[in-house]
Amino acid sequence: MTVILQISDPHVLADGHVLEGRIDTAARFAEALQLVKNSPRTPDLVILSGDLVNNGSEAEYRNLASILERSGVHALPVMGNHDDRERLRQFLPTPARSGSGTEPLQYVVDIPDGRRIIVLDTTEPGLHSGVLDTLRLEWLEDRLNEHPNAPTIVVQHHPPFASGIGFMDQYGLDGAIAEAEILNRHPQVCAVLCGHLHRPAVSTVGGIMTITAPSCAAQVALDLVGGGTAYTGEPGMVAWHLWTGQSVVSHTSPTVDLGSWVPAWALEERT
Ligand SMILES: [Fe+2]
Ligand SMILES: [Fe+2]
Repeated sequence: MTVILQISDPHVLADGHVLEGRIDTAARFAEALQLVKNSPRTPDLVILSGDLVNNGSEAEYRNLASILERSGVHALPVMGNHDDRERLRQFLPTPARSGSGTEPLQYVVDIPDGRRIIVLDTTEPGLHSGVLDTLRLEWLEDRLNEHPNAPTIVVQHHPPFASGIGFMDQYGLDGAIAEAEILNRHPQVCAVLCGHLHRPAVSTVGGIMTITAPSCAAQVALDLVGGGTAYTGEPGMVAWHLWTGQSVVSHTSPTVDLGSWVPAWALEERT
């Protein structure tokens, strides 16, 4: 079994800055990275699914890189709409063949047992919404055609489905229908892992289970009646994906230990 820890949307700010005067996003990112060493089951792979920093500035990437270095965690970066391709490439190690400069940051990672991770770049400079244009869709289908029998997970920032949370869905993904058609032609895809929504949600896209991870910084309010942009006081959270064969089981958990307790019936069973 491959265990993937997905840390999404950290929105790290420059050193000493606090998001909206409320959330120390750098501290929350560091807490999420602590899970790699402090969890009973060490993840085999850590994925950072976009919006790594908040404004794309050099100072923010410098802070992000410093936090990562102090943690000793090696992670696969994914571009989000708050990121800057050139700076991300400059400050974070990206796998070979992930392009250069302002080109979309896309790549494939071959992992043990013949499995593959395909990382897509759904961002378009200047837009909060996402784009999968013809070139990127062709690139995805070419990669999937290379190894049609290799169990594969696709990772991308913008989810290719509408969540029902109106103020987030207005920043959707152009090209989502075409992506669904590609996924439908490639049943070796076990799951699509996304960020951007700042909330855990699950849907099927082209018949493939597609998941958004919560944010390790702040969660979007579950507003299904068009009430407008709002965030909640929920803690930072991460997603854990257990990948066995063709199946993926996903969990979410807070980045900080909120305590645990044992019910009376379980205590009785122990005695
Ligand atoms: Fe985000
Ligand atoms: Fe985003």
